[in-house]
Amino acid sequence: MKKVCCSLLFFSLPLCAGWNWEELEKAEVEFPREFLFGTAVSEFQVSGGENLPHSQWAFWEAQEGLPIKTGERSRISADEWHLMERDVALMKELGVNAFRFSLDWSQIEPREGEWNEEAMVHYERCIDLLLEHQITPMVTLHHFVHPQWFEGKGGFEKRENIPYFVRFSQEVFARLGSKVPLWCTINEPTIFALMGYFLGEFPPGKKDPFLTGIVLRNLLLAHVKTYFALKEMDGGEEVAIGIVHQHLKFIPFHTFNPVEKVPCFFLTDCFHTSLMHFFETGDFDFYLPTQAIVTESESLAPRSFDFFGVNYYSRAVLKGQWSLEEPLVATCFEGEVMTDMPYAIYPEGFYEALIECARFGKPIYVTENGIADAQDVHRALFIKRYLYALYKALAEGVDVRGYFYWSLLDNFEWGEGFSKKFGLYEVDFQTLERRLRPGALAYQKILLERNRGYVK
Ligand code: BGC
Repeated sequence: MKKVCCSLLFFSLPLCAGWNWEELEKAEVEFPREFLFGTAVSEFQVSGGENLPHSQWAFWEAQEGLPIKTGERSRISADEWHLMERDVALMKELGVNAFRFSLDWSQIEPREGEWNEEAMVHYERCIDLLLEHQITPMVTLHHFVHPQWFEGKGGFEKRENIPYFVRFSQEVFARLGSKVPLWCTINEPTIFALMGYFLGEFPPGKKDPFLTGIVLRNLLLAHVKTYFALKEMDGGEEVAIGIVHQHLKFIPFHTFNPVEKVPCFFLTDCFHTSLMHFFETGDFDFYLPTQAIVTESESLAPRSFDFFGVNYYSRAVLKGQWSLEEPLVATCFEGEVMTDMPYAIYPEGFYEALIECARFGKPIYVTENGIADAQDVHRALFIKRYLYALYKALAEGVDVRGYFYWSLLDNFEWGEGFSKKFGLYEVDFQTLERRLRPGALAYQKILLERNRGYVK
C-alpha cells in the first residue's frame, strides 16, 4: 500500500500529563493512500431554524426564555442551505476528499407522510456536486433534529414511533442510496438522550432519568431496524452503514473522592459503556441508582453496523463544589490546555478511544473531532496532536478508514449559541463571508502534502 509521509512539526508548548510531546515533536506520520480526510457539519447547525422551519429545534428555539446560553437563535446560521456550492469550493481549497453532512428529515417530510420533492432534489444536487469534485459524501440521517410532527407524537420517547424514522430513511435511501457510499444512521444517541432528557438543554428540555434510558434504548433499536431495512433495499449491500457514538468518559478530578467518583462511574456507564456493550453483546443496561433502570436485548445489534463512527473531543473531568444547584463542575487537570468548551485538549484519550472501539472488529471512521477556539491559538496544535494520536492507533493496526474534522464552518453550537468557534473557516454571520483561519493551515498543509504525493 502506497503511503505518503507528512511531517508534523509540533510547537513546543506546556507539557501536559500524558505523552511526552517534546519527544514526538518531529514525528513522521503516514496514512494509507485511500484514507479519507474530510470535514463534517450538520444541517441545522449550518442552515438554522429559518431555513428549516418544520424542525423540532426551530419550534424549540422560538419559545421565550430558553436555555441557549447566549440568548441567540440559530436564524439562517451560515446559510449552507443556499451556499453549498461556495462551500464545496472551500473544501477544494482545503484539500479534503470527503464531507460528512446530515439530511434534514423535517425538510424532506415536513408533514407526516408528505414528501417534499424540492428537498430531495436539493440534496441530490449537493451530493452530485461533491461527487463532481471527487469528494466522498458521508450522509447522516439523524443529527439531533427531526420534524416537529414527529416530536408531537412523542419522538423517540415512544417505541412505536421508530417505524416513522425507518420509513424516512428508506425513502431517502431509495432516492440517494446509489450515490452515497457511507451512511450514518443516528448521530450520538447518548448525547441526544443526555442533553434532551437528562440535562434538559436540548428539546424537549426534560430532566427525567428514566425517560433518558427509554429514549436511548429506542434510538439504539431505531438504528438496528434502520440498518437492516436499508440493507434489504436495492444497493443496500453495496454501501457501508454505521452508527455514530461520542466517546465520552467522565473522570473524577480527585481520584479517591466518592462525591466525584461515584457520579463519574454512573455517567460513564450510562452514556458510554451501555452503548458499547449493546453493540458488542446485544444487551442494553441503563442503570442510575434509585432513579432508573432500563434493560433490553436485541440479538441483531452486534451485526447492525458495517463501520463504527467515533466522535471524539475529550474527556469530562468533574470536580465537586459547594453548591446544591451544581455540585459538580467540568474542569481540567493542571498543565492541560483548556478549549473554549469545558474540556481540555486530550489526544491521548483519542488514541485510547480508537483502541477501545477496535474491539468490534469493524472499520472505524472518526466522524467528528475538532476544537472550539475563538482566539485560534490552539487549533494548529490540536490538529497535529490528534492526528498524531490517530496515526499511532493506525500504526498499531486499528482499522481507521477516515477522519472528519469538526467543523468546516463556524456554526450554531446548540445550547451554546454561536459562541463556540469550531470552524476551519471563520464565518461572519452578518455578511456570510467565510475566511480560512490561520490555525486551519495545519490541516490544509497535511492535506496538500498528501495530495501532491499522489500526483504522478
Ligand atoms: C455533535 C455536534 C457538536 C459537536 C461539538 C457533537 O456532540 O455531534 O453537533 O457541534 O459535538 O460540540
